[in-house]
Amino acid sequence: MALNLIMLGPPGAGKGTQAERFARSRAIPKISTGDMLREAVKAGTEIGLRAKAIMDRGELVGDDVITGIVKERLDQPDARRGFILDGFPRTVAQAMALDTLMNGRDPLIVVDIAVPEAELVRRLSSRRVCRDCGTNADAGATAAAGAGDERCGKCGGRLEQRSDDTEAVVLERLKVYRRDTQPLVDYYRPRPTFRSVNGAQSADGVAADLAAEIEAVSGAGR
Ligand code: AP5
Ligand code: MG
Repeated sequence: MALNLIMLGPPGAGKGTQAERFARSRAIPKISTGDMLREAVKAGTEIGLRAKAIMDRGELVGDDVITGIVKERLDQPDARRGFILDGFPRTVAQAMALDTLMNGRDPLIVVDIAVPEAELVRRLSSRRVCRDCGTNADAGATAAAGAGDERCGKCGGRLEQRSDDTEAVVLERLKVYRRDTQPLVDYYRPRPTFRSVNGAQSADGVAADLAAEIEAVSGAGR
């Protein structure tokens, strides 16, 4: 059975951190719409150019554009063995579109990572990412000689604040989350494959809880 997983959760919940670990341990692709959009911005594609302004305001890119990107990615052969969605779906319309895309595939397992808002603000305001490869500083950066010149442990690129991690934009992202994305928890909750985990613990603790929940759910579905 393919492991078709959705990581739900507010900005800063640890979706990317956990999706990365899980994708590596299960050898299935992590499909992060935020990362894909940031790559499009960097590459200067038409979608990237339009998305940049929206992302920097903390708003959501249109459902049709995002759903199109995800459909194309899920059609790649490597996603047939399973996938981890990080940052998608984010609206009920996207969730409904995904349900259609899932026709003929194994059921979605949905895990919501719950973290109190004060902790989210703390995490996002202190996050540093690599300017060149986007890697999170906590996940592989090393401090180079000299204060203020920390470098990415993966590629040596300079670390900086993500452009949507400023205080005003974080507050907007949280507002958009409450309005547009939190309703997804109620959309998925009735499914037997929905689980919620406590994200306000160490990343190792979250990973262990996630693995246990996913094991329980996918075992039950066999
Ligand atoms: P996206 O990139 O998805 O951002 P987000 O949802 O706001 O989430 P983050 O990436 O900020 O947080 P995360 O949950 O991944 O946490 P992380 O692991 O990094 O989207 C960006 C934008 O793109 C959107 O605003 C929108 O404009 C657009 N977009 C994307 N998808 C879209 C869609 N489907 N529809 C429309 N628009 C879309 O962790 C955060 C920090 O906390 C890190 O520093 C990390 O090291 C740390 N941390 C992680 N876990 C722990 C822990 N357990 N304890 C302590 N610290 C931790
Ligand atoms: Mg992320």
